[in-house]
Amino acid sequence: MNILFIAAECAPYAKTGGLADVVGALPRYLRAMGHQAIVVMPRYASINGDRYGLRWFHGPMGVWMGDTQEWCAVHAAANDGVPVYFIESQKYFDRWGLYHDADFNDYQDNPRRFGFLTRAGLQLCKDIGFRPDVVHAHDWHTALAPAYLKIWHWNDPLLGGAASLLTIHNIAYQGRYPAHHMDYLGLQWGNFTPDKFEDHGAINFLKGGIVYADMVNTVSPNYARETRTPELGYGMAPYLNDKGENYIGILNGCDYTQWDPQDDRMIPARYSRDDLSGKAICKRALQSRMNLTASPDTPVIGIVSRLVEQKGLHLLAQCIEGIVANMRVQFAILGSGEKALEHFFGELPARHPGRVGSYIGYSDELAHWIEAGADFFLMPSLFEPCGLNQMYALRYGTLPIVRATGGLDDTVQQYDEATGDGTGFKFYEPSAHAIYYTVGWAVSTYYDRPQHMQRMIRAAMAQDFSWERSAGQYVRAYERAIQNKRSG
Ligand code: ADP
Ligand code: GLC
Repeated sequence: MNILFIAAECAPYAKTGGLADVVGALPRYLRAMGHQAIVVMPRYASINGDRYGLRWFHGPMGVWMGDTQEWCAVHAAANDGVPVYFIESQKYFDRWGLYHDADFNDYQDNPRRFGFLTRAGLQLCKDIGFRPDVVHAHDWHTALAPAYLKIWHWNDPLLGGAASLLTIHNIAYQGRYPAHHMDYLGLQWGNFTPDKFEDHGAINFLKGGIVYADMVNTVSPNYARETRTPELGYGMAPYLNDKGENYIGILNGCDYTQWDPQDDRMIPARYSRDDLSGKAICKRALQSRMNLTASPDTPVIGIVSRLVEQKGLHLLAQCIEGIVANMRVQFAILGSGEKALEHFFGELPARHPGRVGSYIGYSDELAHWIEAGADFFLMPSLFEPCGLNQMYALRYGTLPIVRATGGLDDTVQQYDEATGDGTGFKFYEPSAHAIYYTVGWAVSTYYDRPQHMQRMIRAAMAQDFSWERSAGQYVRAYERAIQNKRSG
């Protein structure tokens, strides 16, 4: 099959979260299975062209937006054999941020930027003669691709046969914008109806994508169930339920070529299930790097996260000082995002020297260090479509403490105090109390039942969330999308 990915993020070039990890990995695994996948993404100013070997590929390329043509150039690089095409537009992408400026204010022209990206991705296929069997769109940013295929390209020799799959990585972000963008986006006012793009007077990109796509999926089976309910569907539940069996959950894979302590070149020492001595070295190094008291026997709780409401860290903010006051633990925190949370977690180390270390910013290397050096990994998310960090943590023998929601519930097995079975610690209530008590449970397990800890660490490291399995499920989803298109 030929598959066109269009996405706002792709690791290693541009990343704010797990979306980039998925778009960076899945096409490589599809390729290994004999499919031809290509990726189209923006050329943001933050992408270092020299480092990644970007070269000029095509252009100027004209892209129709409304009734005007806008121009861009296309650069190319190879991600482990997968062709990645970068849409260069000074007007839309020559900025450092992906979605917002340094103060976390969304760029005002985001609907135009990502509408343009989406149409440019389709145009590129025509210009270079790539005939996709499936166009794979990701999140609201490129959710218009299925609609464009049906509104504009149904009769096109290259694109007319393409089916579409929309993957929802996060339903809380839908791309809702004022109706006047309909013209520029070329969506035709006849489609501005409640069963298509219209949502309380605005355009809703994600909703349009759900309605038009031949197949829709999200990134874990549990989140697929949750989003079909009013509580977690963020208004999309009726449209997802309308899709019936054409809305499914496929658990993200974990890219063990990047995240495995056996051959992770970023961490201070390598280790495996059979020999954990390297993990102790990683812990010592992490404590030193984050100005924590050197203490091999004090449990370290790691956090690597976008600092946004979804991740439940405002609840942690309410109880972390109580935890530090009453339990013998340390925290190693890495994150960036909302200013209030950045301030709070940024200033904690000064109030609790040696006990709490934090780094406000983005650091891939420190993320690896925390996965390796911590004893526990905390994710108190309010909702979590899949979550990759807990899967990484499992492989690094760092036991997840998670709220049982979305993919966290699918991937972490609850500790059983009677037997020592399980791979982590789960709680249900979204509250500071529940975080406090579950951290206490983990910490007491660390001190009082070390044999259970050892057993769980080994069970955790044996978990296998390889991409091969998920990629196979995506191939079946593509096949169903193609069937749906033929029969629909
Ligand atoms: P989400 O996509 O909602 O942020 P995931 O758990 O799926 O959550 O993916 C998060 C990814 O982003 C992981 O690869 C994690 O290591 C990375 N990440 C998040 N914040 C940071 C940060 N401040 N520095 C480095 N990596 C980060
Ligand atoms: C989103 C979700 C996260 C998921 C990631 C990749 O950012 O918040 O849970 O793992 O996408 O699918």
